[in-house]
Amino acid sequence: MALSDAPLLRALAGSRPDRTPVWFMRQAGRSLPEYRELRVGTRMLDACLTPDLAAEITLQPVRRHGVDAGIFFSDIVVPLRLAGVEVEIEPGRGPVFASPVRTAQDVARITAIDPASLDTSAIAEAVRIVVDELGETPLIGFAGAPFTLAAYLVEGGPSKEHLRARAMMHTDPASWNRLAGWLAQVSRTFLLAQRAAGASAVQLFDSWAGSLSPADYRAFVAPHSTAAVTGIDAPVIHFGVGTGPFLADMRLDGAASAVGVDWRQPLDEAAAVLGPDVTVQGNIDPALLTAPWPVIEASVREVLARGTAARAHIVNLGHGVPPETDPGVLTRIVELVHAEDGSRRGGAE
Ligand code: CP3
Repeated sequence: MALSDAPLLRALAGSRPDRTPVWFMRQAGRSLPEYRELRVGTRMLDACLTPDLAAEITLQPVRRHGVDAGIFFSDIVVPLRLAGVEVEIEPGRGPVFASPVRTAQDVARITAIDPASLDTSAIAEAVRIVVDELGETPLIGFAGAPFTLAAYLVEGGPSKEHLRARAMMHTDPASWNRLAGWLAQVSRTFLLAQRAAGASAVQLFDSWAGSLSPADYRAFVAPHSTAAVTGIDAPVIHFGVGTGPFLADMRLDGAASAVGVDWRQPLDEAAAVLGPDVTVQGNIDPALLTAPWPVIEASVREVLARGTAARAHIVNLGHGVPPETDPGVLTRIVELVHAEDGSRRGGAE
């Protein structure tokens, strides 16, 4: 089989391969004992910028689970670190910035950094190692969408409702647009580096977009997310959590080949909103992974059945793998999805 015939890439192009492709957000990470072992003594962002280590961590879940894609082991804040922004990832918490970007002056200072000047050589080297090892299995590159990055950067760290980033849109729209426009170019540089080094597709993570109203999403966020993926000559998957109220906008006017759906919205309903020109990705509830196997199996079968309503379907969770997940359960889900006939079409059963 050639890489171009890989089920993931065929599904992104809109066809239904015999085998429904499946991968998991955060498949590379703390649910794997071999990951925890490799990470001992190395800070998260240092691991991301050590090519051999990042490559090995990317490959671990592909070997173990037989998923249909690797997702590059890195983080949405890596390109900011490469831009010289002081950021660390605190275990159990998330990205924390030394200096939050809150005022017009803060925005002017950070946006003076040229997004094209990032040294992405460590990223490119890691991607090349991975792509070489993966052979006919595609690698998905990724980046953070401008709003999700801003949700951390404006606050200075993780927050619940991302109030400060949302407030900037209305208090000082010029600064907001300047910051989000800059973040789009930073993420775009990160995506271009992964693509140039051999990633077959890319995913834009707007994990916290669900905190926005549809009107704010359209006016202040979607144009910047579109800019982040403009000119990337690879299929784009666009993912967010809680985006049901503006799911159609997640297509980014055709820039996205696939839209990720969280566990709140049945895939057949999502497909009806998204229309015939987009592939759906999702949407097993991560909370189900600790349930007895028959419960998980029934839920995976239902996700597959509802996914037949879309032009094509990529199975995933509705959000990332929780760290305490038994990895054996993920392997079993992959086997179950692969045992089903992926070519079937129709609505929910
Ligand atoms: O397997 C994969 O999905 C690829 C690697 C990946 C990571 N982060 C590795 C990681 C990807 C695609 C991301 C993206 C990311 N990073 C997002 C968007 C996806 C999502 O989950 O919504 C966000 C919001 C971040 C920011 C971030 N980085 C958070 C919230 C955390 C968790 C903090 C914690 O300890 O709970 C991180 C750290 C992080 N990124 C880990 C991993 C494997 C954990 C690091 C560790 O081992 O301690």
